[in-house]
Amino acid sequence: MCTFFKINFITLKNIKITYFRAMETVVSGIRSTGNLHLGNYYGAIQNFVKMQHEYNCYFFIADLHSLTTHPTPADLHGNIKQVLVEYLAAGIDPDRATIYIQSDVPEISELYLYLNMNAYLGELERATSFKDKVRANPDNVNAGLLTYPVLMAADIIIHKATKVPVGKDQEQHLEMARTFGNRFNRLYNQDYFPEPFAFNFSDNLVKIPGLDGKGKMGKSEGEGNAVYLSDSPEVIRKKVMRAVTDAGPTADNQEKPVEIQNLFDIIKVVSSADTYEHFDNLYNTCQIRYGDLKKQLAEDIIIATAPIRERINDIANNAPYLRQVARHGAIKARESASKTIKEVREIIGFRSF
Ligand code: TRP
Repeated sequence: MCTFFKINFITLKNIKITYFRAMETVVSGIRSTGNLHLGNYYGAIQNFVKMQHEYNCYFFIADLHSLTTHPTPADLHGNIKQVLVEYLAAGIDPDRATIYIQSDVPEISELYLYLNMNAYLGELERATSFKDKVRANPDNVNAGLLTYPVLMAADIIIHKATKVPVGKDQEQHLEMARTFGNRFNRLYNQDYFPEPFAFNFSDNLVKIPGLDGKGKMGKSEGEGNAVYLSDSPEVIRKKVMRAVTDAGPTADNQEKPVEIQNLFDIIKVVSSADTYEHFDNLYNTCQIRYGDLKKQLAEDIIIATAPIRERINDIANNAPYLRQVARHGAIKARESASKTIKEVREIIGFRSF
């Protein structure tokens, strides 16, 4: 779908000039496998909220993707609702962006089937995410897991998106999406699907580390590592107070070990510059008390997330609103997706008699 972005100029002579720039399409999704955490918010959703003003945005809940781990029906439904609620609470506006649930748009599954015919076992097996998952869960190596990048490609190219806000860990999937789209184009001798690329609004992506002293914040890294947007202030305090630290610096201006740097990285995002400097100075002069730092960090996280937390509760209890958002989003997403599928069928040779 081609949407235009209206730009008005008033010239020096007070003549109004209006021109239209084709608005590029942005697609991104988050798998519905649990509550969203600070990493999802600062690393992704905050960017989505900015993009919705300048691009033709589709933000969806990747519930089909979540089936690879076999959720129960109750868990599946609850997790979809949670992501929908949290998208809205974090500021994605259903009047600006198209917010939808992946399984509400069957055209995506249809395109996935077509793309699967030209996705090869060798390349799918080589995907890093597949290898990681095989290693982590050797007794659940299902075909859905193998073809995960094909479904992700379908998610993106169904709307002919060119910009995909995702983290570094999704680069390879995006490259595969380009491969599958280009392969379709070549096979049918068409210039049909444009190439999608990773895109981030701000130059430096905000990465939120976890509280376990290791890598990034994530839901699969174990309880206590991630602070969820829906966590109550008490839970936030408890998790932050338990964050991994070391015995403290022994010399002035010592380099911070990973677990301490991680806490400072979170402070940089949620606290004021003064607070950051205050604790940085204490660290550099060996006077830091991690208990004080953690107390401050917990309070700052609580303040930073308060508006979202309050909206989560309101929205979660507003069933008619959620129903309306989901229906409206599905209609808008299907408008775009069905146009693509109709053309794809024609290109492939499925023609009506
Ligand atoms: N694979 C992405 C992740 O795990 C989620 C996702 C699925 C996605 N389909 C997408 C992201 C399409 C962007 C576009 O984070």
